[in-house]
Amino acid sequence: MNFLELAASRHSVRDYKPDPIPKESLDKILEAGRVAPSAQNRQPWRYIVLTEPEQIKALVKHTGLVGLSNFFIKSAPCVIVACADTKKNLRVNGQDYYLVDTAISFQQMILCAWEMGIGSCWMAAFSEKILAKYLALPKTWRIVAISAFGYPKDEKSMWGKVVSSFAGSTKRQPIEEMVTYYDKGN
Ligand SMILES: Cc1cc2nc3c(=O)[nH]c(=O)nc-3n(C[C@H](O)[C@H](O)[C@H](O)COP(=O)(O)O)c2cc1C
Repeated sequence: MNFLELAASRHSVRDYKPDPIPKESLDKILEAGRVAPSAQNRQPWRYIVLTEPEQIKALVKHTGLVGLSNFFIKSAPCVIVACADTKKNLRVNGQDYYLVDTAISFQQMILCAWEMGIGSCWMAAFSEKILAKYLALPKTWRIVAISAFGYPKDEKSMWGKVVSSFAGSTKRQPIEEMVTYYDKGN
C-alpha cells in the first residue's frame, strides 16, 4: 500500500474486536507520534495510554454528557488520550500551535496504526473539564482529542453505520474547492 492508498483507505472505526494490540505495534504507533514535526520543535504532545478494559470502561464514564455519543470506545482494547502541555506552546500571529503540533503527531499515530490494520476514531466529543479532573492532569495540559485503537470488527454495528452516514464519512470536497493556484503577477 503506498501512502496515498493508506491515507485514502483510512476511515473512522467505531466497532472494535476485543483483541489486544500487541506491545510492538503499540510501540510503533507511539513512535510515529514521537517523530512528528512541531513549531520550534517544542513537542508539546503528551499521551495517556489505557489498555485495561476496566480502566477504559471507567474512563468512558468520565467523558461527560457529550461523551455519551462515543460510548463505543468502551469495547476497544486501547484508548489514547492526546494531551498537550501548553507550557510548550508556540504563539505566533495570535495562533497557539500546540493544537496543530499535537494534531500532526496524533494523526501520524493514526496512520501508522492503520498501516498495521489497526483502526481508530478521533473524538472531540468529551467534557475536557470532567476528563482532566478524572485523569488528574497537570493544570497546564489541555486534552486535544481521544481515540480508541483496535482491530475493526468484520461487521459494523447499527450505531457505527448511523454515525458514519450522519458524519458523511466517505464524502470529501472536490479538489477545486480546496485548492487555489496563485496566479497574481503572471
Ligand atoms: C477533530 C475531530 C473530531 C472528531 N470527533 C468525533 C467524535 O467525537 N465522535 C465520532 O464518532 N467521530 C468523530 N470524528 C470523526 C469524524 O466524524 C470523521 O473523521 C469524518 O466524518 C470523516 O470520516 P472518516 O474518518 O471515516 O473518513 C472526529 C474527527 C476529527 C478529525
